[in-house]
Amino acid sequence: MSDRIGGLHHITLCTGSAQGDIDLFYKTLGMSLVKRTLLYDGGAPIYHLYFGNETGDPGTLTTVFPFRRDGRKAKRGAGQIELCSYSVPKGAVPYWKERLTERGVPIVKVYERFGQQIIQFEHPDCGLNFELVEETADDRKPFVGGDVPPEHAIRGFHNWTVLTRDNEDMDIFMKDAWNYRELGADGAFTRYAVEGGKAAHIIDVHLQPDARPGSWFYGEGMIHHGAFAVPNLDVQHQVKLEVEGMGLTDFSDRKHRGYFESIYVRTPGGALFEATHSLGFDVDEAADRLGQEVIVSPQFRDRRDQIVTELNDPFELN
Ligand SMILES: [Fe+2]
Repeated sequence: MSDRIGGLHHITLCTGSAQGDIDLFYKTLGMSLVKRTLLYDGGAPIYHLYFGNETGDPGTLTTVFPFRRDGRKAKRGAGQIELCSYSVPKGAVPYWKERLTERGVPIVKVYERFGQQIIQFEHPDCGLNFELVEETADDRKPFVGGDVPPEHAIRGFHNWTVLTRDNEDMDIFMKDAWNYRELGADGAFTRYAVEGGKAAHIIDVHLQPDARPGSWFYGEGMIHHGAFAVPNLDVQHQVKLEVEGMGLTDFSDRKHRGYFESIYVRTPGGALFEATHSLGFDVDEAADRLGQEVIVSPQFRDRRDQIVTELNDPFELN
């Protein structure tokens, strides 16, 4: 099959409260809030907040559904992306250890994987785990949000880690369906990449045969899916055709997500992957005012004010 899946585009999490996400991603990690809209699925209003670099470029975007107000809790486990790792410059881990500790973010561990220095920490509001990976070969610009010095600031994604009970079929999927190449292994982690494995072009598959299965539904405390970039809608259509031709017919039709056109496939490892084409964040607000107002999703547009009141998930940026 041709190379048509590119690097990591965005990751979407089900978290706890909107304020908890603002506190971690905006205030502590120095991301910009580039869009505040609502979940496009279902009939109850749930925030959809997008964090990333200033312009919300592919490869920088963490999006959240704060699900606590719905009341449903998710189970973390196999069949999900278990870790989202961001790229920081060499030598940045001690700075982040101090900053995270000062702000009450629990540190899980500081360790090395694939020869890189990593700090792993926990989202204080919903328990999801994240990492900052020291990467020497990342020439993307530092995030400018908040008060993080540029020499330590996040550049975007480094990699995501998929937790699976069996990697045989997932290995075939990564290579044949997703055109990623195997780069090597470190213990229970197998690394796959496109474009030589630069930051935001890497997936690690973590094999843990006795891991309990995680939830697939929306609920507080899980990573729902990871989206990969495709260059245009023709290529996206070709991906769906070719992957369905492998017998993987759990592939959705194209869904319009306001800022992306997306298709979703349940991978053999269980994690939900998306192949997405960006439409830009300035389709419904000015580029210099991104994320300042709630843009109500299409199913609620005829009753905007009522829906914004019903959200009942207030947050302060300061
Ligand atoms: Fe998505």
